[in-house]
Amino acid sequence: MIKSNRKKNLKIAIDSPAAAGAGTLARAISRHYNLFYLDTGKIYRYIAYLKLKFPKKFNLNFIKTKVKILKIKNLMNKQLLSDEIGIEASIISKNKKIRKLVHSFQINFAYNPPKNFNGSCLDGRDITYKIVPDADFKFYITASQKVRAMRRYKEFKALKKNISFSQVLKSIKIRDKSDRNRKISPLKKTKDSLLINTTNLNKSACFLKIKKIIDSKIKY
Ligand code: C5P
Repeated sequence: MIKSNRKKNLKIAIDSPAAAGAGTLARAISRHYNLFYLDTGKIYRYIAYLKLKFPKKFNLNFIKTKVKILKIKNLMNKQLLSDEIGIEASIISKNKKIRKLVHSFQINFAYNPPKNFNGSCLDGRDITYKIVPDADFKFYITASQKVRAMRRYKEFKALKKNISFSQVLKSIKIRDKSDRNRKISPLKKTKDSLLINTTNLNKSACFLKIKKIIDSKIKY
C-alpha cells in the first residue's frame, strides 16, 4: 500500500459507506498532518441540492457551469446534510456523465493542494481506486448499519431535524445498496486498503489507530 515514505505531498485516500465516521476521522487526520481535506460526498450532495432547488434548469450544462465555479464554501451549506439530499445524491452519483464532470475537480484537489499544506486527504466511495489510486495511505472505514444509523440519527437530532431512527436506518440501507451495487464507481474495499471497523471504537480510538499506522510509515 505505501508507495513512498515522506511527509510532504502525502496523499491519503479513504472510502466508506454512509455515516461510518470517515468524515470526522478524515478531518481529524487532515488537521493533525496539515492536509488539504475534501469530503467528496459533499460534491454529489451539492449537485443533488441544485437538482432539488433548480429542477427546471437542471441539466449537464447547468451542472458543468456550477462545478466550474465550485468553491469549498458552497460545500459548507448546512442544507446539504439532510437525509433527502443524501438519498438524491446517491441517485445522481450513478450517472456516468455527472461523475465525469466532478472527476477533474477531485483530481486537482488531491494532486495540487495549496503549498502551505503537506498534502491532501479525500474521502468518498471511489477515492482509493479511481480518484487517488496512488495514495500513500488507503483506508476503508466502516461500521455496522445500526451503529451508523444511530450516529447519523444523533447528528440529525443535534441539527433539530424531525426524523425517526427507523427512517434514518432505512435511508442508510437504501444508500448502501445503491452505492455498492451500481455499475460505475461502486463502493468497495480495495485489497490495498486497510480496514478500520469503527463499530466498537470511539472517535479518539479510531484516530489513534490511524495515526499509529501513518506514523509508523512516514519519515520526519
Ligand atoms: O458521503 P456522503 O454520504 O455525503 O455521500 C453522499 C452520496 O454521494 C453517497 O451515498 C454516494 O452515492 C455519493 N458519493 C459517490 N462517490 C463519492 C462520494 C459520494 O458516489 N466519492
